[in-house]
Amino acid sequence: MTLLQPADATLDRTPVKRTVLMCRPDYFTVSYRINPWMHPEDPTDTSLAVRQWEQLHRIYTDLGFDIELIDPLPGLPDMVYAANGGFVLDGIAYGASFTYEQRQPEGPAYMTWFREHGFDVREPENINEGEGDFLLVGERILAGTGFRSASHSHEEVERIFGREVVTLGLINPSFYHLDTAIAVLDPVSTDAAPANIAYLESAFDEPSLEKLRTLYPDAILVSEDDAAVLGLNSFSDGYNIVIAARAKDFERQLRERGYNPIGIDLSELLLGGGGVKCCTLELRR
Ligand code: ARG
Repeated sequence: MTLLQPADATLDRTPVKRTVLMCRPDYFTVSYRINPWMHPEDPTDTSLAVRQWEQLHRIYTDLGFDIELIDPLPGLPDMVYAANGGFVLDGIAYGASFTYEQRQPEGPAYMTWFREHGFDVREPENINEGEGDFLLVGERILAGTGFRSASHSHEEVERIFGREVVTLGLINPSFYHLDTAIAVLDPVSTDAAPANIAYLESAFDEPSLEKLRTLYPDAILVSEDDAAVLGLNSFSDGYNIVIAARAKDFERQLRERGYNPIGIDLSELLLGGGGVKCCTLELRR
């Protein structure tokens, strides 16, 4: 018996070296509730959060990534979710302006870091939560709205970066940032292998689903179960994809497509409503 394999299982996937910014969860806890995952009445274990984060750091180190660190600040328990600190492309850092006041001081803190590290910082005019809602897929930027980033921030990003920006409407409060509902599988797009994504269909409104189906006919559609452990909140170098270890079906789908999924347990950081991608801000110089 021959096993049928999708054509792209044999694709030669080449890892591209990534540069990322991370923030140690030294002050991580859940002391307020700004998404349905957060339960301030339940205990958290900061030292466990740090150990799990260190494991993610180790995986990135082993993959050969360049990792930069921003100092965590006391009183900002969500600062570990570095993806929300801005959106960085072509050496330009578009700053974040947070929806909820609890996180607002993070915006300037990240902008200061970008400035001190040679980025051309653009102060945001509109509410936006950085790479939580802006995902670069090949040359195109997918932009989320509905819960956090204002749709006007999408126009701002289009103006600043001069790229195509596709607005997507999120409708499920559990998947409040675009990076909880879409995984970018390929950092680079080629003619032979256009950059692809994985996503959770039920997280999007109908017009957005139509856009996704047209733009990414080959996308991986993930199950509710895998999305519910923030399986989509993953980080890829084009071959290796770091994902939530519990997202078993997603893991299988990735393997079938010729990727190398690497599972990690970030259960403690999940208590704040974040996973692998949330802890990772890509720096593109
Ligand atoms: N507690 C944080 C918030 O609600 C989690 C942020 C997760 N980050 C992300 N990129 N999805 O803002």
